[in-house]
Amino acid sequence: MARRLAFAALVPLLLMFMAFVVSLACAFGPQQSHHLHLYMHDFAAGPNVSTIRVGVAHDTGPLLGGSKLWRFGDMVVMDDALTEGPGMGSRALGRAQGFYIAASSKGSDPTLHMSFDLLLTSGPYNGSTLAVTGRDNVMAPVRELSVVGGMGRFRMATGYVLMQTVEWWHGEYALLELDVYVHA
Ligand SMILES: *[C@@H]1O[C@H](CO)[C@@H](O)[C@H](O)[C@H]1NC(C)=O
Ligand SMILES: *[C@@H]1O[C@H](CO)[C@@H](O)[C@H](O)[C@H]1NC(C)=O
Repeated sequence: MARRLAFAALVPLLLMFMAFVVSLACAFGPQQSHHLHLYMHDFAAGPNVSTIRVGVAHDTGPLLGGSKLWRFGDMVVMDDALTEGPGMGSRALGRAQGFYIAASSKGSDPTLHMSFDLLLTSGPYNGSTLAVTGRDNVMAPVRELSVVGGMGRFRMATGYVLMQTVEWWHGEYALLELDVYVHA
C-alpha cells in the first residue's frame, strides 16, 4: 500500500520532468549542420567600392607586416558582395557587413581583427544572418574565424569560417573564398 502511494506521488514528478524535456527540445530544436561556400568581394576603390576607411592612424602607427598601406589602428567598414562563384557577375548570395581593424602593433605581423555579419539574401537561408569574428593574418593561406551566433534560420548558431585569399590587386581589391561550417 505504502509502495503504491510512493509510486503515485512519483507520477506527477515524472510527468513534469517529461514536459520539461519536451519543452527544451522544442525551444532548441534539432541542430543541423550547414556548409556554405561563398566568395566575398572587397573593393577599396573603383566603381564597385564596398569599403570605407573610417579610422586612419595617420603616420604614427607601425606599418603592418611590411605593407605600405596599412598601419596599426587603421579601421575599415565594409559592405561586401557575396556571390556563388568567383566572378562579380555570379549569382548574388548576400552581403558581408561589418569592419576590420589593423590589430597588430608588430611591424612583422600583418594581422587584422574582423567582425561582420553574413547576411544571406537568397535560397533557404534568405533573411538569416551569421555573426563572424576573429583574427585574420592576411598572409596565412587559410584563416579560421569564429561563428559566434546568428539570426533567423541560424539562431543560436555555432561554427567556424575558413577564409582564403583568391586574388589581391594592389590593395584595391581582394577576392576571398569562404567555407562556412555551422551548427544551428
Ligand atoms: C562591378 O560589378 C559589376 C556587376 O555588379 C561587374 O559587372 C563589373 O565587372 C564590376 N567592376 C569591377 C571593376 O570589378
Ligand atoms: C528574400 O526575402 C525578401 C524579404 O522577405 C524578399 O523580398 C525577397 O524576394 C527574397 N529573395 C529571394 C531570392 O527569395
